[in-house]
Amino acid sequence: MYILLKNIDQYLNKIVTLKGWVFNFRSSGSIYFLQFRDGTGRIQGIVSKKEVETEVWENCQKLTIESSVEMTGKVYEEQRSSYGYEMAVSDLKIISLAQEYPIAKKEHGVDFLMDQRHLWLRSPRQAAILKVRDQIIWAIRSFFRQEGFILTDSPILTPTACEGTTTLFSTDYFGEKAYLSQSGQLYLEAAIYSLGRVYDFGPTFRAEKSKTRRHLTEFWMMDAEAAFVEHEENMKIQEALVSYIVQNVLKNCAKELEVIERDLKPLQKVEPPFYRLTYKEAIELLQKNGVKIKWGDDFGGDEETIISKYYNKPVFIEKYPAELKAFYMQPDPSDSRLVLNNDCLAPEGYGEIIGGSQRIHDLKILEAKIKQFKLKREPLEWYLDLRRYGSVPHSGFGIGLERTVAWLCGLEHVRETIPFPRMINRLRP
Ligand code: 4AD
Ligand code: MG
Repeated sequence: MYILLKNIDQYLNKIVTLKGWVFNFRSSGSIYFLQFRDGTGRIQGIVSKKEVETEVWENCQKLTIESSVEMTGKVYEEQRSSYGYEMAVSDLKIISLAQEYPIAKKEHGVDFLMDQRHLWLRSPRQAAILKVRDQIIWAIRSFFRQEGFILTDSPILTPTACEGTTTLFSTDYFGEKAYLSQSGQLYLEAAIYSLGRVYDFGPTFRAEKSKTRRHLTEFWMMDAEAAFVEHEENMKIQEALVSYIVQNVLKNCAKELEVIERDLKPLQKVEPPFYRLTYKEAIELLQKNGVKIKWGDDFGGDEETIISKYYNKPVFIEKYPAELKAFYMQPDPSDSRLVLNNDCLAPEGYGEIIGGSQRIHDLKILEAKIKQFKLKREPLEWYLDLRRYGSVPHSGFGIGLERTVAWLCGLEHVRETIPFPRMINRLRP
């Protein structure tokens, strides 16, 4: 009977068939030890020359790394094996004999591995990262479902910029210019008038010319938006979400985090409330730490790293100068130079994972902002309509999936957090 390795504990001492790949093997003359995986688990198969047909033994001798096979035998518990089980192989059929595999056990450079990304994905570490990514996506979805947010997909082809015009990818849309979405936010703002609380989750695009460990040109973002939620409550939702994600991954990905060798202690601390700093306090903190920065400057990656190493939990930085941020942010009633926004920085040096804000709900203020930011008004007319027909205070935020994966997995760089990364210097494979 053909089974998946994830169900193996139901088949102890039974004869079953597995289908998958031999990722390594060695022979001691009369025995072959086959390291086998099927995508749901791993196991060692033992082939004993004197117990199998000649044809099976000859198949073993032909084997190459990454060949696909069908392996049949009796499964038994084996305490000494790191997988917990072994198979006494009675039959081995080769499905496809692999050519010489380019990724060896030895250390390869990251560029080489990135060129081989289509094959590198098979490694245990990369598979573990992809599983954590999957778990984070499910955690986000289940958090929002539990909180009554409705999934509302935003378009990817759009006529306007959401987050500034410097990082737009443009394309020809039947003679008109269209842009790949930087964030679904503006469309979610329309949806709250229908559904109250909504979120989207999809690919977003930024023509980032910077080569940093935090930037991709194509990444996945979850935007959330809620009617009648103001700045303070917006941050409460964010800290509940981030804590939920972390605790959910700790609970469901113990094995994967072990493969990645993630230190769990910093993650175990992640629960509300998070630290809070105003932009002004963050500038002062940086100055105290010897950084040359003044009020009005934006934070780069280095500044974020310093702040986020300073705290052992995520930290919100709120109320930035308006000109550093996007056109749609609500002015701070206590200081009109500022906006009611926040970034959420992950600890351990990871930096920004969320950007959020209260949105302008007053038509006149928004019209003035569009002018001030020199944005074309015509393609935003529909967005202004939202301020004409029953406008209400509302807020939202966007969490970057890849940066969240990098933090939870403790990775150096976001390039390993997505199956096929797109960066300034990488469009292949
Ligand atoms: O801070 P950002 O630009 O916020 C927005 O786009 C808002 N419209 C979201 C909203 O309020 N609905 O982006 C949100 C998050 C960042 O905090 C970061 O995690 C991620 O998206 N992000 C990137 N991730 C990888 N590569 C890039 N180039 C990224 N740019 C942003
Ligand atoms: Mg941001």
